[in-house]
Amino acid sequence: LFAPRRANSRGHDLTDPLAVNYLLTDRDRFRPSEKRWHAVPASLVAGSQGEQFSIISPATGEPVGDAIGAGPETLELAIATARDAAPGWAARPVAERALLLRQVAGLYEDNAAEFFALCAREAGKTLNDAVSEVREAVDFLRYYAAEAEASEPRQPLGVFTCISPWNFPLAIFTGQIAAALVAGNTVLAKPAETTPLIAALAVRLMVQAGIPEDVVQLVPGSGPVVGSVLTSDPRIDGVCFTGSLATAKAIDVKMADNLAAGAALIAETGGLNAMIVDSTALPEQAVRDILASAFQSAGQRCSALRILYVQEDAAERTLEMLYGAMDELKLGDPWDLSVDIGPVIDSKAKAKMDAYIAEFAARDAVLHQLKAPEQGTFVPPTVLKVSGIAEMKEEIFGPVLHVATFKAEDIGAVVNAINASGYGLTFGLHTRIDGRVEELSDRIRAGNIYVNRNQIGAVVGSQPFGGESLSGTGPKAGGPNYLKRFWRPAEAFEPS
Ligand code: SER
Repeated sequence: LFAPRRANSRGHDLTDPLAVNYLLTDRDRFRPSEKRWHAVPASLVAGSQGEQFSIISPATGEPVGDAIGAGPETLELAIATARDAAPGWAARPVAERALLLRQVAGLYEDNAAEFFALCAREAGKTLNDAVSEVREAVDFLRYYAAEAEASEPRQPLGVFTCISPWNFPLAIFTGQIAAALVAGNTVLAKPAETTPLIAALAVRLMVQAGIPEDVVQLVPGSGPVVGSVLTSDPRIDGVCFTGSLATAKAIDVKMADNLAAGAALIAETGGLNAMIVDSTALPEQAVRDILASAFQSAGQRCSALRILYVQEDAAERTLEMLYGAMDELKLGDPWDLSVDIGPVIDSKAKAKMDAYIAEFAARDAVLHQLKAPEQGTFVPPTVLKVSGIAEMKEEIFGPVLHVATFKAEDIGAVVNAINASGYGLTFGLHTRIDGRVEELSDRIRAGNIYVNRNQIGAVVGSQPFGGESLSGTGPKAGGPNYLKRFWRPAEAFEPS
């Protein structure tokens, strides 16, 4: 990394600590084993190296690049730098910070093709998902810029740690950082261990747009090593986290002292998302939306449909049509642009899903299953039979749909069971009965409710996204209340 400077044929600097280099357009020359991409902490030059991560393409098993985690000295340096930079960044006019975010948005668009390639290689995303990923990241940048400008000026909290998940390695990574930055906080950004390369390119573009290196620092590493310091250190004023419920709980404990001192924790966690299809629903429309909700992105969305409740007298025709539609899905390496479903993120995720499905197979409760490619970490889209949501104890993060049937008179009991799961992220409803739409929307405890459409892909600005209860703390991302948590509470400034 620190060898004499060399540039590749496109002028990318191969020795830049944040270099992410590859060729997208000239596919024949795409040789992952010959090209090395690196993600290292911004402040590593003066610090210490920590964990080493080899990034493997989940679709092919080929090496994609390396990440070097922050060692103890780098962590100390990064936190001290963020702390020192905080007053200067907070003092900049909101319009300046907003302008910088808009410049980042422009650079993301200019570099979209590079992001698409990295999304396919590092995260196993299809082109369709990669396009949405860049779109959503750009939307977050422009939306929070506009929201900040439209708000009363407020004091930021100070230094924010942003901990983001691999399933939206650019969109959520960027959304958290954009909100924290435009609100006037400096940021320590810890990407998921499996997707640091996309994050490295994103931070590189932020710096290229003019955001000072001290204000936004990439700090790769694992939760136990890097995440625990970046949440418990007393100089951290806020943590923005998206990921599992178990990790959110662990962060809450780590942050106990900071929270008592007024730090903020914004956590978006998982869901056990349900859809109800009654016998008045249009089967073709319902099937199209079940397919997208359950299997798009290989089911690796916190919004994804996990349990379908279909009314008994519509079950046969709906499920038969669903299985037929599933059979048309193409699984494979997303580098092939015709692929609908890519791999799950890594072999650990695959092993967990395979074991889960095997339990259902052992009791003959697999209703339908596709075939998965042998190479790579693919899990075949699978439909499992359950009696109801009470059977499901935790979020199952992959292309697995549970199905239960209900009798017309039991729809109220179904709603109660869904609410009793404790989660409350997304809910889907397919019906042609207006009164049912109103009644169920009132009764279901879920952050995002979708009627006669799929239940994924919330749009920044028009569909603020986030859940209740075990699904998160709020406020909703991409909505008008989100920035408020990145500022000091308004009452702190009111005369007493
Ligand atoms: N924002 C994403 C969606 O709505 C989260 O998973 O699908």
